[in-house]
Amino acid sequence: MKIDLLQMVENGGCSAKIPPRQLEEILKYLPLPVDPNILVDIDTHDDAGVYKVNDDLALVLTTDFFPPVCSDPYEFGQIAAANSISDVYAMGGTPVVALNILMFPASRLPIEAYAEILKGGSDMASEAGLRIIGGHTIDDFPPKYGLAVVGYVHPGKIITNSGARSGDSLILTKPIGTGTILAGQRLNMAIKKDIDEALRLMKLLNKSGAEVMKRYDIKGATDITGFGLAGHMLKMARASRVSVRINMKKVPLIGNAYKLIDEGCIPGAAFRNLEYAETDTLFAPDLDYNLKMLAYDAQTSGGLLISAPHDLEKKIIAELKAAGLEESSVIGHVTEPAGKLVHLDN
Ligand code: CO
Ligand code: CO
Ligand code: CO
Repeated sequence: MKIDLLQMVENGGCSAKIPPRQLEEILKYLPLPVDPNILVDIDTHDDAGVYKVNDDLALVLTTDFFPPVCSDPYEFGQIAAANSISDVYAMGGTPVVALNILMFPASRLPIEAYAEILKGGSDMASEAGLRIIGGHTIDDFPPKYGLAVVGYVHPGKIITNSGARSGDSLILTKPIGTGTILAGQRLNMAIKKDIDEALRLMKLLNKSGAEVMKRYDIKGATDITGFGLAGHMLKMARASRVSVRINMKKVPLIGNAYKLIDEGCIPGAAFRNLEYAETDTLFAPDLDYNLKMLAYDAQTSGGLLISAPHDLEKKIIAELKAAGLEESSVIGHVTEPAGKLVHLDN
């Protein structure tokens, strides 16, 4: 029997996140714990929490899980794991150990699918040099999978949302458009070549990009996931108390993502992300509408967004490309606070 996980979900991958505005409302009710060893908490909307153990070691802690983004259970496991591990890389950390988190409808799917999801996750963890040492499963529909990951980082070498500085160049390591391509797949509008490329990119670990960041002592970065490029950029600008300018024409796109948006294939998550970011964003009057919607397209296991000193930009891009991230590009820059937090240009 051929299993097609995509038949089971409306919103797969990071598109299934709680809308950012609602999430912020909910987080207001959570008291922030006070402890001098907490180096990064939810205050800066960072990718992971960081807890200092001693002067040489801090733990990076993160979890992500979501419903299927693709049909094949093994590939779903790979993508979910790559996405979960990514938050450790975005913080400058090295992933060390992890726990599986799996929700699986045992009465509605053959048990082989269960094994395949976990096998995909386990193989991706091995690629990252990460050991999965436990986990937890409950019966639930539709299936959801991800990891809770623990990484190591030196307390003085943490890379955060709040580390972007005026004058920095903004570098993106993977093209965007996974949300649009997946929506196109669902509507039978996307071509196989683009779907395959989206799958390849979602399975691509942010490990090599993170290694380049560490060589250059980068202070500010995040990974692009459910809130879309411009949504994550907004969180970074706010945390760093700067403004950011994005040139949407410089942002690399997956295959026919632009054409799909033009044909009306715009995922709901893009509208929710736009609604959240709108009041803090200045849109260029001549901004192309399709590019605007792509800026808010929810990415699953997207690339790193790196805030790098301007004079290092060429070297970093060259190293990223040499590391296999061929579409790495400078897509904008950081400025002093300039009215709105995010400026979206053509
Ligand atoms: Co993240
Ligand atoms: Co995350
Ligand atoms: Co348990």
